[in-house]
Amino acid sequence: MAYRNLETSNRGAVRTIAVNRPDKLNALNRDTLNELTLAFAQAAQDDAVRVVVLTGTGEKAFVAGADIAEMNGYTPIQAQAFSRTGQRLMSSIERLGKPVIARIQGFALGGGMELAMACHLRVASEKAKFGQPEINLGLIPGFGGTQRLLRLAGRGAALELCLSGAVINAQRACELGLVTRVVAAEALDDAVNVLADQLAAAAPLAAAGILDAVLQGGEMALDQALEFETQGFALAFSTDDMREGTSAFLEKRKAEFKGS
Ligand code: COA
Repeated sequence: MAYRNLETSNRGAVRTIAVNRPDKLNALNRDTLNELTLAFAQAAQDDAVRVVVLTGTGEKAFVAGADIAEMNGYTPIQAQAFSRTGQRLMSSIERLGKPVIARIQGFALGGGMELAMACHLRVASEKAKFGQPEINLGLIPGFGGTQRLLRLAGRGAALELCLSGAVINAQRACELGLVTRVVAAEALDDAVNVLADQLAAAAPLAAAGILDAVLQGGEMALDQALEFETQGFALAFSTDDMREGTSAFLEKRKAEFKGS
């Protein structure tokens, strides 16, 4: 499927989805949000895809935010629809059932930071920059930023970043728990590829169970979340991959996971 604002490619079981509006620093307009929604739905349905890497084209930006030119003319009703479309996209990424890695090489601002936070793992170049600068536009984050930032980095950091609109570097983002790894710019592709290959070789149903337990369990009371984990643990015993993984260990060989 051809997209106007995205580039997609496959490397083995790894699908890369890149926002491709480099002249606008990959800003998210409505069309791009819709295309991303479609691209992630396709990745979810395709059994050959085990891991998704999300990035932006060009050196300068991952995604520099929601499209300010488009938002400038919005009525409140249009803004409500835009926010809901963005939030649904972010939730669909979070609930994809397969690991999603954000590859962040430059600006991840506003909707770009929200997009990165919806991914499960974030690997950043040391040149990347992060922030929720919506307040400088008289706005608040509208694609889940207030909530995911709160959950990832805590109330203090969420309030500081959203109220100040400050742009922070990758090292600070790592200290705040916003990114999982920071690497030299020239090492970014290797770091992302190694991680993606490692995740692609893992048992897919176990990966889905872990994503569910951490993401859904994290929103529950502890007793309920622990029971949810028990159900996921028990369900894994119904899979061929669990028999293969435990047998491979006992037979001292490498496991071959099939996703069944
Ligand atoms: N929406 C729409 N267009 C954007 C954009 C956004 N979020 N971010 C960048 N662009 C566009 C610029 O308007 C410019 O387009 P033009 O060449 O047609 O004028 C182009 O991308 C390049 O950006 P520019 O501002 O010239 O680059 P810079 O290197 O001087 O500054 C930033 C880079 C990221 C600091 C600056 O673009 C910026 O502050 N962007 C907005 C960030 C933001 O507020 N995001 C949250 C939105 S809710």
